[in-house]
Amino acid sequence: MDAKVDDAPHEPPALAMPSRPAKPLSALEVLKTIPDNSLGVFDDELYENLFVTRRYSLVTACFISDPAGVKQVLVDNFDNYPRVPTIRRLFEAEIGTGTLASEGETWRRHRRIATPAIDRRAVEPDGPALIRVAERRAKDLARRAAAGKPIDMERVAADMLARMLNHISTGGDDSALPMLRWLSTVPRKPRSIDMVPKPEWVSKFLVRRRLEDWKAEGDRKLRALIAERRDPDWKGGQDLLWRLAHARDRQTGEPLSPEETRDEAASIIAAGDATIRALTWIWYLLDLHPHVEARMHAELDEVLGDRKLTPEDVARVPYTKRVLDEVMRLYPPIPVIVRKAVKADVVCGRKVPRGAIVTVAPFIIHRHRQLWERPDVFDPDRFEDENRRKVARFAYIPFAAGPRVCPGASASTANLMFSIITLARQFRFRLATTGPITPFGGISLQPKGGLPMWVEKRK
Ligand code: HEM
Repeated sequence: MDAKVDDAPHEPPALAMPSRPAKPLSALEVLKTIPDNSLGVFDDELYENLFVTRRYSLVTACFISDPAGVKQVLVDNFDNYPRVPTIRRLFEAEIGTGTLASEGETWRRHRRIATPAIDRRAVEPDGPALIRVAERRAKDLARRAAAGKPIDMERVAADMLARMLNHISTGGDDSALPMLRWLSTVPRKPRSIDMVPKPEWVSKFLVRRRLEDWKAEGDRKLRALIAERRDPDWKGGQDLLWRLAHARDRQTGEPLSPEETRDEAASIIAAGDATIRALTWIWYLLDLHPHVEARMHAELDEVLGDRKLTPEDVARVPYTKRVLDEVMRLYPPIPVIVRKAVKADVVCGRKVPRGAIVTVAPFIIHRHRQLWERPDVFDPDRFEDENRRKVARFAYIPFAAGPRVCPGASASTANLMFSIITLARQFRFRLATTGPITPFGGISLQPKGGLPMWVEKRK
C-alpha cells in the first residue's frame, strides 16, 4: 500500500554506513583498511572539525572540509593541488593520457577538447533517444519482475546507463557494449603497495600498460570505432566518438593525435561509471522512506499522467530532482577527492606542508556536523530553493568544482533523471535482504555485494 505523503516518521531510519572509527587509525591500519574500504579510515573527528591534520609516518595528511578551504584547493589555488600520482596511476594503464589520468599541459589540452564534446549542448539532442533506451530497459524489467525473483538494482542501473552512454558515445552500436563493459572496470582496485610512497620508476613498473585478452579486445574495438569515424566516407552520426575524432583545440587549432583520442574516449567512458552509483542508492533510500517515495510518485503522476516522458519534463518535476540531489549528498558517487600539495600553502589559516596529501571528501563534507543540520537524515527538502540558499556553495560538491569539475555533470544528470522518472512511474522497489547494506568506497561508492530488491509493478 502507498504511504501517505505527510507520513514522515518521527524517528528517521538508520542508514547504511561504513565503519566509523572512534579514534584516528595508525599508518599501518590505514594501509590495511584502504583496499578493503577507503571510507573505513574516516574517524569521528573528521565529521566534527573542518580542518584536521594527521601524521602517518613520513606523510602529512590534511582533511579539508571548510567550504572556503575546499574552494582554495579545488578552484583558487588549483595548480598547487594535482592528483596524487599513486591514484592517477591506477587509471593510467588503461586510459593513458586521458583527462582522468593526466596533469599539466597534456591535461589542459585534453580538457579543452573533451569538455565541448560532452557538455550540455552536445548531449541535449540525444534526449528523446535516451528516454527510449530507458523505456526499453523498463519493459525488460517488467518481464523479469513477472518471474517473481529479486533483482540486483546495481546491475539494472549498470545495464541501463551503459546503454545510454553507448548511445551518447557510438549512437547505440550494440557491438560496442563489451568495450563499455571493459572500461567500467577501470580503475582496478588499489592494493596496499599502491599507497606506499615510492620513486616514479617503481610506480611506473608496477602499472605497465598491459591488457588481458578480453580487455585488449575492447581496446581494439574502441580504436576501430574511432578509425571508422575518421574516414571521410563515414555515413553515421556525429556521436561522442565522432566529436572527439574531429575536435580541434580552440587555442591551437590542433586535434588530439589518434592515440590521444583513444585515451580521451576511454577516459570519458570510464568516468561515466559513477552515474550507476546514484541510480542504485536512490531505490535503497526510497524504500526506507515511504513518505518521500509517495511524494515523488504523486509528483510524477500529476505532471505526467499517462503520457510519454519528454526531455522538457525534467524541469517540471522539482521534487524528484531534490530526491536525486539528496541521494548524492548522502552517497556521493565519487566519495573522496585526493590531491598532493606541490608547494606549502596556508588554507583557512592552517599550514599545508609541501608534499602533504590533501583530502577533500564529499562523503565527509556532505555529512559534516558543522555544515548540515541532522546530517545523517535523508531529507530532500533541504534542497528546496529557500533551504538550498542556506547551504554554503562548497558544502555540496558531488561533481567536484573548479577547473577539474566533472565535465559529464549535465549528461549524467539527464540520464539519471530519465532513468529515475521512467522506473519510478512504473515500479516500486523493496529491499530483498534483511542483512546489513555496507557502503563500499573504492574510487566510487557502491553497496558492497550489490543491492538485491523485489520489483513491484505500480500500475
Ligand atoms: C553522477 C554521476 C557522476 C558524478 C557524481 C561524477 C563526479 C565526478 C567528480 C567528483 C570528478 C572529479 C574527480 C577528481 O578530480 O578527483 C569527476 C571527474 C570527471 N568526470 Fe565525472 N561524475 C559523474 C558522471 C560522469 C559522466 C557521465 C562522465 C562522462 C560522460 C564523466 C566524466 C568525467 C571526466 C572526464 C572527469 C575528469 C575531469 C578532469 O580531470 O578534468 N563523469 N566526476
